[in-house]
Amino acid sequence: MNLTELLRKQRAMTRQDLIDLLSLTDPDDLQQLYDAAYAVKAATVGRVVYYRGLVEFSNICIKNCRYCGIRRDNDEVERFDTERDDILAMARWSYESGYGSLTLQSGERQDEAFVSYVEELIGDIKKIGGGALGLTLCVGEQTEETYRRWFAAGAHRYLLRIETSNPSLYNMLHPRDGRHEWQVRRDCLQTLRRIGYQVGTGDMIGLPGQTVEDLADDILFYKQLDIDMIGMGPYVVHHRTPVGQAVAAAGLDSPDARQRRLQWGLSMIAVTRLFLVDVNIAATTALQALHPLGRELGLRAGANVLMPVVTVPKFRAQYLLYDHKPCVDERPDQCKNCLSARVASVGDTVGFGRWGDSLHFHKKE
Ligand code: 5AD
Ligand code: SF4
Repeated sequence: MNLTELLRKQRAMTRQDLIDLLSLTDPDDLQQLYDAAYAVKAATVGRVVYYRGLVEFSNICIKNCRYCGIRRDNDEVERFDTERDDILAMARWSYESGYGSLTLQSGERQDEAFVSYVEELIGDIKKIGGGALGLTLCVGEQTEETYRRWFAAGAHRYLLRIETSNPSLYNMLHPRDGRHEWQVRRDCLQTLRRIGYQVGTGDMIGLPGQTVEDLADDILFYKQLDIDMIGMGPYVVHHRTPVGQAVAAAGLDSPDARQRRLQWGLSMIAVTRLFLVDVNIAATTALQALHPLGRELGLRAGANVLMPVVTVPKFRAQYLLYDHKPCVDERPDQCKNCLSARVASVGDTVGFGRWGDSLHFHKKE
């Protein structure tokens, strides 16, 4: 079958079709793939980019993911918790700047003090503009009761990346200490769906030991779990992590290797857009860590969401999941202007003042 016919199959693509598309390397073929995905985006979710102001409010984490810069064992990291009033000020700024929604992200914690802190925070954020801000949580694995409390308080979207749909690869990337279980993570996604959240997941792309078959299976996993939102991005080395050090020692952090991970990241966006059609897909910051125009390339390959960082400026440099994280010295107003120019350069417009819910989610209602 030729590429043009394959791209037209969209939802009818087989696993082998996904693998074939994710294996493309010829620049003309790749351009055809990205153009086809952009056309599907334009025809379904539209050429509109939604902003989710991202507040990274704490880097304290009980987990020890072997690739992540703020893993528990990294004692070079200065840990912080953002004051409630500072978070609310950033939320108010986001609302006044026309950002339709906010994402609260932090390391993982499950103690009652944390759970009730987040619960009250949700309530306070929902008071801004009479509930005008959409609210996504990205605070890890929790009990069903906790997820229910936060939903009742007003959160309506939840982002929990599966990281990889391959349990044995997952086991290699996480300590075997009973705290990092793939099955538990998958169950959390199903619980979130049952409760009524719009559910987001995603993977890291270009992990050591990951194959193109694994990536195709990640996309099939999104389909199988009926996911509404996708936040995925290339793996980026953090020099003070076990995975980062092994990758660098194996010579897999060369400019060529980074370019391959970027290209795979873009292909994953495009193939996901073609296959799942009406979900929200973020062009994540990790793309920009590998290429100055990484996020624009993501929008051109079919993504329709950006997450401008609205973390309190003094804490930005302490939330480093990977090396070369862009924009850590920027203030939120600089990010806003910079991103608007980036969106315009692609020919999209910003959906200011709108939640920009996943079309896929509402079709199910
Ligand atoms: N490179 C890219 N993404 C990373 N994350 C954590 N560490 C890295 C890294 N080194 C991602 C994980 C996590 C999200 C918050 O950040 O996918 O779910
Ligand atoms: Fe913690 Fe998330 Fe980093 Fe894992 S990826 S160590 S859960 S912040």
